[in-house]
Amino acid sequence: MKGSRKYWGRALEIAPSILTADFSNLADTLEEAVNAGINWIHMDVMDGNWVVNRTITFGPALIRAVRNRMGTEVFIDCHLMITNAEETWSQYVDAGVDLVIAHIEAVDNMGSLIKSLHDSGCQAGAVLNPDTPASSILPFLSQLDLVLVMSVVPGKGGQSFMPEVESKVRKFREAIDKQIAEGGRQTKLMIDGGIKHHNAAMVSEWGVDVAVVGSGLINDKASIKDNLTEINSAMGID
Ligand code: DX5
Ligand code: ZN
Repeated sequence: MKGSRKYWGRALEIAPSILTADFSNLADTLEEAVNAGINWIHMDVMDGNWVVNRTITFGPALIRAVRNRMGTEVFIDCHLMITNAEETWSQYVDAGVDLVIAHIEAVDNMGSLIKSLHDSGCQAGAVLNPDTPASSILPFLSQLDLVLVMSVVPGKGGQSFMPEVESKVRKFREAIDKQIAEGGRQTKLMIDGGIKHHNAAMVSEWGVDVAVVGSGLINDKASIKDNLTEINSAMGID
């Protein structure tokens, strides 16, 4: 359903991670995703230092190229798996993202980063690794536009889903629903890592609003459209 960049979409928004895409053909891949009904793109930034396997993916330059190609209709977030998000966040805002998602494990002052992002007109998200407790982010919840629960250890696409994050997801769902009921911010809840057609309905039931899907959507087994159809039909969405 085409909506404005701020429109959150249906019950479970699917946001492709492009890590498994052929970067030499990225524009066509993203065009295919949008034509298949995707409204949200998840850009995984790794600096070669922060993630355990020392991967480098891409930086602001590629994000700007994606924004220039995709126009302003598509919602773009960047998942910063980097050591210096507090110094470099504005490069991603300038590159055209709608939302910057920073790791609570990698920043010294999340409150100050959130304020800087909001002051720049960008939305602010916080992400936590599978073994990081919800208590690390709950104090910031009322200021956050999005909380991202990792269901894999950050570093690459194609990893196995970690179901042990269920209780954390449900804890955030409960806290966000309470916050909204009290007239607070409508913080979105996102999950990222190992989401496929066989577990999308499950995480939707846990209360996730947005699921990042990398290898489950962009792979050499089927088209993005067919993969998306399989995920949606597994959730009873035609
Ligand atoms: C991992 C990234 C994820 C990953 C998702 O560090 O943050 O976004 O690319 O890919 P899949 O869906 O294949 O696990
Ligand atoms: Zn990610």
